[in-house]
Amino acid sequence: MSRLIRAVIDTGALRHNLETIRARAGGARILAVVKANAYGHGLVQTALALARADGFAVARLEEGITLREHGVSGPVVLLEGVFTAEQLREAARHGLELVVHDALQVHLLEADGAGQRLRLWLKIDTGMNRLGFRAREVPEALRRLERLSPPPLEVRLMTHLARADDSPEMTRRQLERFREATRGHACATSIANSAGVFGETPVGGEWVRPGLALYGASPFASRPAEALNLRPAMTLTTSVIAVRHVPRGETVGYGGAWRAERDSRIAIAAAGYGDGLPRGLPNGTPVLVDGRRAPLCGRVSMDMIAVDVTELGPVAVGTPVVLWGEGLAVEEVARWAGTVAYELLCGVSQRVPLELR
Ligand SMILES: Cc1ncc(COP(=O)(O)O)c(C=O)c1O
Repeated sequence: MSRLIRAVIDTGALRHNLETIRARAGGARILAVVKANAYGHGLVQTALALARADGFAVARLEEGITLREHGVSGPVVLLEGVFTAEQLREAARHGLELVVHDALQVHLLEADGAGQRLRLWLKIDTGMNRLGFRAREVPEALRRLERLSPPPLEVRLMTHLARADDSPEMTRRQLERFREATRGHACATSIANSAGVFGETPVGGEWVRPGLALYGASPFASRPAEALNLRPAMTLTTSVIAVRHVPRGETVGYGGAWRAERDSRIAIAAAGYGDGLPRGLPNGTPVLVDGRRAPLCGRVSMDMIAVDVTELGPVAVGTPVVLWGEGLAVEEVARWAGTVAYELLCGVSQRVPLELR
């Protein structure tokens, strides 16, 4: 019998997607976003596979240190920056670049940053209303950063787009605010996430920060990944562990959420919410059984799902089942789950082995 659930990571697809982004990014340098365990693909192995990226971006200090400990020596940016003097010292010791999005972080650098020559990214809030300085606060924040002693290696400017996937108008408004806030400053800039790289509005900037697109998923509801020349990097796959006949009128699984309308053949596959499948996946959600689409029936349990294979040919214990990836876009499964590809990819649980290909 083939192995049970695993996430097969196609490093060739990761590299292909990086080059697709590079071709699209108009000469901008690429900070590959590998936070949250590289969106479930494995932090270190993804960074090593993407060695041709110009740098990496992570959310938290621990992620940055892990990259350093595994030999990643190029630029690594902490997107949330640091919050204590100890974190600041650790970040500096590991040569990590810091996003500075709040006056408290400027104060920390003034109070505890002496002797630490860091590369800093001043984050400007242009409409996301999550992190960053308002336009009117930028001149003062920049002045304070430039006066640090010793001065930082470099200060760069960045913002984050809130609706690059669905509202060119909002993106244009954010770009306008960014231009106004940064007018007169000759710093390098970074604006684009995946949707910013592939969207219809050119957003510019010397650096782009794609995450999702690297993993081969599209950020747009109406443009599939193939149309962007992206290939899925993760295929979540498992096997059938039992096949049973369910007579018409019987129900399958907890809560009796699916009732057989005819005598049915049901395959039980080893994948459940303990592996990161959303429990809310409804009846009818597609999976691939030996490459053929078949619908989920009944509730997702912790370790198992049931699939109606009545209309398929032979299915036996060991038959492979793909939950998403090659042949079944994670974006499609996410729509069935009422969520986004980001959440499914990041949600693959730690008991699922990652297998590099
Ligand atoms: C600040 C920042 N930049 C870039 C990204 C990458 O976004 P995406 O995965 O949509 O490309 C993220 C992801 O959430 C982010 O928080």
